[in-house]
Amino acid sequence: MNSFMESASRIFVAGHRGLAGSAIVRKLRELGHTNLLLRTHHELDLLDRGATRAFFDRERPEYVFLAAARVGGVLANRDFPAEFIAQNLDIQNNVLESAARTGVRRLLFLGSSCIYPRLAPQPLKEEYLLSGPLEFTNRPYAIAKIAGIEMCWAFNRQYGTKFLAAMPTNLYGTGDNYDLQTSHVLPALIRKIHEAIERRQKKVVVWGTGTPRREFLFSDDMADACVYLMNFSEAQFESLISVPETPPLINVGSGHDLTIRELASTVCAVMGYDGNLTFDSTKPDGTPRKLLDTTKLFNLGWKPSIPLPQGIQLAWDDYRVQLQQPQETN
Ligand SMILES: NC(=O)c1ccc[n+]([C@@H]2O[C@H](COP(=O)([O-])OP(=O)(O)OC[C@H]3O[C@@H](n4cnc5c(N)ncnc54)[C@H](OP(=O)(O)O)[C@@H]3O)[C@@H](O)[C@H]2O)c1
Repeated sequence: MNSFMESASRIFVAGHRGLAGSAIVRKLRELGHTNLLLRTHHELDLLDRGATRAFFDRERPEYVFLAAARVGGVLANRDFPAEFIAQNLDIQNNVLESAARTGVRRLLFLGSSCIYPRLAPQPLKEEYLLSGPLEFTNRPYAIAKIAGIEMCWAFNRQYGTKFLAAMPTNLYGTGDNYDLQTSHVLPALIRKIHEAIERRQKKVVVWGTGTPRREFLFSDDMADACVYLMNFSEAQFESLISVPETPPLINVGSGHDLTIRELASTVCAVMGYDGNLTFDSTKPDGTPRKLLDTTKLFNLGWKPSIPLPQGIQLAWDDYRVQLQQPQETN
């Protein structure tokens, strides 16, 4: 990989203990970066504008990966909509403003595929942003993320910053959340099937009809893509963020989707579970299909390298490690 960022560059990974941020840190360390600026939520609350400004003034990061966000599933988004919009706006406002003020060389803002309209054609192209109404259930979160994209673009135009917004598809991987109340579909399946194996249960119940199609990307592949983009040459990066009348936005996905039924069968095959899967159609399915169009990223020369079965095996290994560890606190 060509490297624009130098091994001693000061790189701030905001949210470095989360699923996305921890993968970015692993990737940067693997590439020999020695000057990572990492602060836990407890050490630096990015909702605190004064503290965020002071951190940037003191540490002068050259590159920023913004992977800190208030993130949650359907229930959390339903129960705390005010927090989801207000906290995400505050985090990104504080970080982008501080980054612009202190002359950060490049910033990568992480969003999510929920920014695209609920009924947009599939696969979802970057140009579909703001072309129709959003899914209701996570609208406050999506609107905060859209504001973040717009801010990256506005700051680039007015202040000459180099901010890029990357929209990853559904992630899974090392350090994922396996709490069945709040987890996403893939870690939930891994946990349910792991427990069925342990308890010698012959049946696993999967939420929904099994027919919706979803796309998955291992978190380390997402991190590889993010670092790949941040390492573009000056001209390449400029061509990515300075297309007239186009937001500095790029999708990060695997390029493939599959049904939840196919996903569950793949998890069973990887984990060697031969019990029966039943589908509880009383549980909500969500949108029928959500696949990002990754033509732009793939045309820039990046491709994912961790196939789904390998990623599931790695995630299951990590889940078993998590089971051995006491719960971490700040
Ligand atoms: N997971 C996915 O499937 C997925 C898919 C697409 C895009 N993304 C995007 O990737 C980004 C990160 O998501 P994730 O899945 O990695 O979430 P995550 O695992 O919940 O991590 C979020 C991180 O942000 C930190 N954080 C939250 N509020 C903070 C604050 N006020 N000050 C400082 N740090 C704060 C959290 O620290 P604490 O835990 O200490 O609060 C945590 O380390 C988000 O923008 C999300 O939209 C994720």
